[in-house]
Amino acid sequence: MKIAVLYGGISAEREVSISSGKQIINALESKGHEVIGVDFHPDRLDDIVHLDVDAVFIGLHGRYGEDGRLQSLLDMLKIPYVGSGVLASALAMDKARSKQFFKIAGIRIASEVVLEKKLYKENQLNVPFGFPLVVKPNHEGSTIGLTIAKDEEEMLKGISTAMLHDQTVLVEEFISGKEVTVAVMGDKGDVKALPVVEIVPKNEYYDYESKYAAGGSVHYVPARLDEKTTALLQKQAVLAHEVLGCEVYSRVDFIVPEDGSDPVILEVNTLPGMTPTSLFPDAAKEAGLSYPKMIEELVQLSLK
Ligand code: DAL
Ligand code: MG
Repeated sequence: MKIAVLYGGISAEREVSISSGKQIINALESKGHEVIGVDFHPDRLDDIVHLDVDAVFIGLHGRYGEDGRLQSLLDMLKIPYVGSGVLASALAMDKARSKQFFKIAGIRIASEVVLEKKLYKENQLNVPFGFPLVVKPNHEGSTIGLTIAKDEEEMLKGISTAMLHDQTVLVEEFISGKEVTVAVMGDKGDVKALPVVEIVPKNEYYDYESKYAAGGSVHYVPARLDEKTTALLQKQAVLAHEVLGCEVYSRVDFIVPEDGSDPVILEVNTLPGMTPTSLFPDAAKEAGLSYPKMIEELVQLSLK
């Protein structure tokens, strides 16, 4: 097949996407496909409009790639692409709104305060939970612009930082526990969760460096959890994928609280990282899918 891989883009996760894109291109070539790599810029839409390919593999992360806008353009051009469509992509990129869907589906979410930059007044801020807490941009990935605040001063600084990245900011209760993620793959109606991955970062938190520096974190696959918790995480990951209307694949992030209470969902990633240190490929490997086989499977599922 002739497949275009879009990578790069203009989001804050550009470097991550360049790394994902490279890996995806190598994998598709090793499977015998003719691959065209495109460093995607939303101000150079001609690159996309004139693509003559059988499918597009979106190797982008974040705004203009993962948030439904590019998916809409590809729909209009009638070019098949790998992964979720417009609505699910847009919804998953909006952490605050997607959390409401998870709640309706019966999945536990962290308490939060949603701040709109336009309406925000520091002296009217009312946060009904204690420290530490998490401050993050609503539409960002890879922990960019995220602060774990131990006191009010750090929280206010964190809000200012997050507002440099986004018009909407989340202040969330910090849940102490194991950071885990569940990769999900499959056809509509036949979606399966892959083995749960547990992340142990070298730094205090699973921050940008722990995510992408070689050796920045250790991944335990399968996660060191009891059967009941593993089964619950896998069930809820599929549910989260389905309630947002995701297609083909996604990766669902959770915290398993250290007090033994139910897992707390953080978010769904519709275009999860595919870099050498990423989690989705590790889960696929444990399920018996090598990196090239996993990429090929995602293409096949998308073209069904
Ligand atoms: N947003 C990054 C790429 C991830 O979730 O893997
Ligand atoms: Mg993310």
